Amino acid sequence: MHVTLTEGINWVGAIDWTIRDFHGYHTGRGSTYNAYLVQGTEKTALIDTVKRTYTNSLLANVDEVAGLGAVDYIVANHAEPDHSGSLAAAIEATGATLVANEKTVGILAAYYDTSGWEIEVVATGDSLDLGGRSLTFVQVPMVHWPDSMVSYCPEEKILFSNDAFGQHIASSGRFDDENDLSVVMQEAKTYYANIVMLYGRPIAKALDALGGLEIGTIAPAHGVVWRAHIPEILDAYSNWVQCRARPKVLVIYESMWHSTDCMAHEIVKGATREGVEVKLFDVGGTHRTELATEMLDAAAVAFGSPTLNMTLMPDIAGVLTYIKGLAPKGKAGFAFGSYGWAPSGPKAVNEYLEAMDFDILREPLTAQWKPSEDVLAQCREAGALLADRAQEAPQAGA
Ligand code: FEO
Repeated sequence: MHVTLTEGINWVGAIDWTIRDFHGYHTGRGSTYNAYLVQGTEKTALIDTVKRTYTNSLLANVDEVAGLGAVDYIVANHAEPDHSGSLAAAIEATGATLVANEKTVGILAAYYDTSGWEIEVVATGDSLDLGGRSLTFVQVPMVHWPDSMVSYCPEEKILFSNDAFGQHIASSGRFDDENDLSVVMQEAKTYYANIVMLYGRPIAKALDALGGLEIGTIAPAHGVVWRAHIPEILDAYSNWVQCRARPKVLVIYESMWHSTDCMAHEIVKGATREGVEVKLFDVGGTHRTELATEMLDAAAVAFGSPTLNMTLMPDIAGVLTYIKGLAPKGKAGFAFGSYGWAPSGPKAVNEYLEAMDFDILREPLTAQWKPSEDVLAQCREAGALLADRAQEAPQAGA
């Protein structure tokens, strides 16, 4: 199966309808591994390959469009195995020359036996002439690996953006306008938060580097191709790279005997006011993928845990470890939770907030055994602190 972007440029990738775990990311809508075949009058290039399990599908698609023997180059924009898993088989089947930057070549040599491959090393600004159309390369380090690169076809104004602008969506429609835009934008946001939020600064640099290009189509390595809503996704990225907050409060917690649960609900009461969106999540019922996405544009967040074995509970610990790794910027909040004889759980939560450079709005809010009426009143007051902070954020935002 192939899908035409424009005459001579075809999607030849694979749709992974059933994947639900992508190295810890919950992919509830599946994903795709996008590869593109670009035919010039003289030469043909395959841009990226697919996950190893879809090798036969990739090769059949390429064969259907041009014949395997017609492929002169395989461009590897990025070495991660979801895009390079079928590279060795594709090189063997086509006899093509690998085109990649030095970092990608080095990583590929660690994953695969590349000793017999023809390799052309490229860097930012280099071009590959295919006859009538060409590919220009721009390295975008740390978007999201050191080797990340994009390829641009100036004659067709198509940016092959690899992981940037991707979404984990399996769908029959390959283009943004063939899918529900609200779903595509939500999945693009989820993808940004969980894959690249940590790399906001390099992404901002990459957006600057790409700013001079005329872009009519963005063809990412996952999900749908952007052709109708490019301003929307570029605008969203400009907000996401700054972790720009909306007037939004999150209360995220784990509980043992409902004491921390009671505190969480009272914090929500205190935070609830007109103009502020408030959301409460028990980590037992919500995947970390969703929580990381919610963090992206939240202004203020309270995290809660009771004390277990002199530290915090394991599920909230997992969520906090995951979110700390993604390094959300510019957040405010506080820790809360119950304890029996030592408030080690909420204190441990507070240490996570310090490590994430939170603006800490108050000392950990604690309740011994069960929150008293006085503690519940303190929870409502603390909730109001979150709402005060959230109201400082602009109403508009992605
Ligand atoms: Fe989709 Fe970083 O690989």
